[in-house]
Amino acid sequence: MHIITTPGAMSAWSDEHRVAGRRVALVPTMGALHEGHLALVDEARRHADVVAVSIFVNPLQFNRPDDFTAYPRPIDDDLAICRAHGLDAAYVPTASDMYPSGFETHVEPGALATVLEGAQRPGHFRGVTTVVAKLFGAARPHVAVFGQKDFQQLTIIRRMTSDLDMGIEIIGLPTVREADGLALSSRNRRLTLAQRVAAVCVPRALDRLAEACSTGERDTVRLTELARSIVDAEPLARFEHLEIVHPDTLESLTTINDHAVAVTAVWFDDVRLIDNRLLSV
Ligand code: PAF
Repeated sequence: MHIITTPGAMSAWSDEHRVAGRRVALVPTMGALHEGHLALVDEARRHADVVAVSIFVNPLQFNRPDDFTAYPRPIDDDLAICRAHGLDAAYVPTASDMYPSGFETHVEPGALATVLEGAQRPGHFRGVTTVVAKLFGAARPHVAVFGQKDFQQLTIIRRMTSDLDMGIEIIGLPTVREADGLALSSRNRRLTLAQRVAAVCVPRALDRLAEACSTGERDTVRLTELARSIVDAEPLARFEHLEIVHPDTLESLTTINDHAVAVTAVWFDDVRLIDNRLLSV
């Protein structure tokens, strides 16, 4: 496995494969790799001849310095996981490789980034679009794979890729879950044992909502209240938001007529977990 640290070396690696007629896939991550990331890699392999993972904890997308500092960075374990999983390359730039002195250009997302997560975490998606554009610029992939757990992120990245004519196929993969339903996330490893047990209230709330929707409830206020009551009943959980929106436009819905997605964020002390559920009637 090639370990690549600079944008120039990343482009050279990718160009070599492109010239040889091979399809290149990129799986962008912030490390602390888990089964969910490996599912993205497996999916990438189905669409490309060579697969690179990027591992970079992007300072631009953290709106709280404490969250950035606390974000897990087990880089040796991550590289061992990548090797064991047969990755062709791992791109692990430093912050100064990505943002050298004088760096001043950002990718500004539009209205999709002002709602939901974007309303709670100002600047977050501008940081995401900027780093993903840079990762795409360096890795020049034909295809990139992202998890649907970050549903809004996936929607915004699809928009950016199309708006900026990047010509990269974006694939979204359904969320990988623990046996009890908790979505896999690098942040889960920051939960205490008691919080980890309590965190199952998040998928349960979404299950309850989806079940009520499938049995005929279409009113989003009533559906939201139903789900919220499950989170509120858990003493270690602090509800942040749950909204039911259109999956393409992310606009709030009052009634579910065809497709919708319920997205939520719940805190466990200083750990914020997100999850979502696609709904269709
Ligand atoms: O989803 C993530 O891990 C990050 O937001 C991403 C896409 C790697 C950009 O830093």
